[in-house]
Amino acid sequence: MSLLQYKNVSMHFGGLRAIDDVSFDVGEKEILGLIGPNGAGKTTLFAMASGFLNPTRGEIWFQGKRIDRLTPPDICELGLVRTYQIVRPFGEMSVLENVMIGAFLHCRSAEQARERAARVVERVGLGPRAQQVARTLTLAGRKRLEVAKTLATQPKLLLLDEVMAGLNAVETAEMLDLVQSVRDEGISVLVIEHNMQAIMRLSDRIVVVHHGQKIADGEPEHVASSPDVVAAYLGDQYKGNLAHA
Ligand SMILES: Nc1ncnc2c1ncn2[C@@H]1O[C@H](COP(=O)(O)OP(=O)(O)OP(=O)(O)O)[C@@H](O)[C@H]1O
Ligand SMILES: [Mg+2]
Repeated sequence: MSLLQYKNVSMHFGGLRAIDDVSFDVGEKEILGLIGPNGAGKTTLFAMASGFLNPTRGEIWFQGKRIDRLTPPDICELGLVRTYQIVRPFGEMSVLENVMIGAFLHCRSAEQARERAARVVERVGLGPRAQQVARTLTLAGRKRLEVAKTLATQPKLLLLDEVMAGLNAVETAEMLDLVQSVRDEGISVLVIEHNMQAIMRLSDRIVVVHHGQKIADGEPEHVASSPDVVAAYLGDQYKGNLAHA
């Protein structure tokens, strides 16, 4: 069953068709990769699903409910949350306090939010840094903190916007493990990523956008061997060679 559905969605900024009649679904417990060149419209798709932009046309549905005219807090409460491509923690607050903000969504007391946040901080591997001021974290730490803030809201679907960008090989592998463990808990994940090896390994299915249009939708091997995708994005090094990625 699908959890999130984009139905013929368009987003126009003046004359620019940032998204043009795009339809796809994200299933229960699915990791769906969203790829495409810079400026293809990936982040715009996230902004619409999370209520930060209203589509010019089309509909977005989440768990059988139309959400494309709801506000970000209402959508978050339904269980759909995003991270940001540019990570901006509340720098002067501690790691734990940043995560508590997410936890407050479903917690009645500060004490309860603190307990939940502490568990999430531990879970993403930031336990030893819980009391550290957020701005002093490394990039890898800040990316983990972004994931922790969303997990604290107890989501059903996470939208992750380039949480592996700028990480080294070890940090990337750790982030892959974290995303997989999130899915193993039953949370669906829609993930934007430019690191091809990582996204191909991680995803059950991949959607490719180019100039605001969907040009492929299928299993990683299928998508990687699509001539349109190779021409638009992957280049020759991936042609027919994805099983080894
Ligand atoms: N609020 C906005 N107003 C005007 N144009 C916008 C706005 N947001 C995005 N765009 C434009 O829409 C297009 C798609 O942008 P988007 O950020 O969705 O791309 P992207 O696929 O996430 O790219 P990247 O891989 O570089 O992050 C770009 O041409 C961008 O300049
Ligand atoms: Mg983007």
